[in-house]
Amino acid sequence: MEHKSQLSLLLHIVAILPFVQVVLGGTALGQTPQMGWNSWNAFKATVNYTVVQEVIDLFESLGLKKAGYNYVLLDDGWSSFNRTTDGYLQANATSFPQGIEALAKELHGQGLKLGLYGDSGHYTCAWRPGSWGYEERDAQTFASWGVDYLKYDNCGGFQSMTEAPQIRFGAMKNALALSGRDIFYSVCEWGYQFPWHWGGGIGHSYRMSGDITTSFTNETSCQCKTAYCLNTGYAGCSVLTIINKMKEISQYQTRGHWLDMDMLEIGNANFTLNQQQTHFAFWAALKSPLIIGADLSKLSNDSVAVLTNQAIIALNQDVLGEPVIYREEFSKEGLFQVWTGKVQGGFVILLLNEKSYPQTVSLVLSDLGLGSPKKVVELWSDEKLTNCTKFDGILESYQTLVFKVQT
Ligand code: GLA
Repeated sequence: MEHKSQLSLLLHIVAILPFVQVVLGGTALGQTPQMGWNSWNAFKATVNYTVVQEVIDLFESLGLKKAGYNYVLLDDGWSSFNRTTDGYLQANATSFPQGIEALAKELHGQGLKLGLYGDSGHYTCAWRPGSWGYEERDAQTFASWGVDYLKYDNCGGFQSMTEAPQIRFGAMKNALALSGRDIFYSVCEWGYQFPWHWGGGIGHSYRMSGDITTSFTNETSCQCKTAYCLNTGYAGCSVLTIINKMKEISQYQTRGHWLDMDMLEIGNANFTLNQQQTHFAFWAALKSPLIIGADLSKLSNDSVAVLTNQAIIALNQDVLGEPVIYREEFSKEGLFQVWTGKVQGGFVILLLNEKSYPQTVSLVLSDLGLGSPKKVVELWSDEKLTNCTKFDGILESYQTLVFKVQT
């Protein structure tokens, strides 16, 4: 009898082990910024199974999967406008006739992972059901479908918006931990209410600004009006504005809790090659998630080359997980910017020309206080600096040079 109850106790312990691991945070998710593709920027709420099929094929044929992109993220619109009669989330039956569980299996079979979008309010931003008050039920649904990632948004109706974001986003964090599945949690709170002070305690990543647009410099909202360039605008942020906002906050990032600069617009916008490289270099070196937002079937060869540049991706995935920091003392306000940060074996320097015309820039590398340079390579051109103590050269319009410095 005693033997039987000991056995039953043992079986119970074995059964709850995965749960204990998740609750105690014994998970390796998010140790480097996540990489993948998201449907929103290119497809809005029309994402469907055919689009996902194309993504699976193009991940392979364009070399994206090999470069490290593995999450396929269905943003707003994947779900029906209504819950089931007994209150469960369900897929939009026209767009995903075979349902989400089958899709997750298909993606897993291809070595990829599936992410869904949800909302901390009553509704999502495109008026699908939100999870406010349904957190545990929805987290369990996601887990039962085999979902690997949840992007959780900030829309959703008066009552939910009056609750502090820590409560709304925290409720889903707890629900995911109870779901029994390791699900990456991407908090999307648009940088309101200073998430760099609390987002890291809740999500594996958290958005630090309103939505990005296809504009490199100009916008109608979201501009930095003061030196402290933060809670400005819910959407319409240009690439340069998002970079400028990071000047104030990249220091708050901690490993495993990445500041999310929003999805990449490479391939959507009419950016020059320099602009695409600047966009990608800053997202990578600031340790933002690298989430492609384009229609992959329309990517130019240049865009594919930027998105799969191994040396730049390696900065993003570097084991130290340290974002670059804005170096005001070496920059010229409004003209060019210098950012530096440590990477394994040395450090990295980003030199950005924020003007539409070329500028001559010079920088003494040994003055940066990060050690004495032994070898310096500019990563986009793969060229070695002959004099590793000093850079003197011309930066083209909106160009960013990325120097990897061995010390
Ligand atoms: C918000 C988010 C976007 C996208 C849309 C979907 O605007 O910030 O990234 O998810 O909602 O409706």
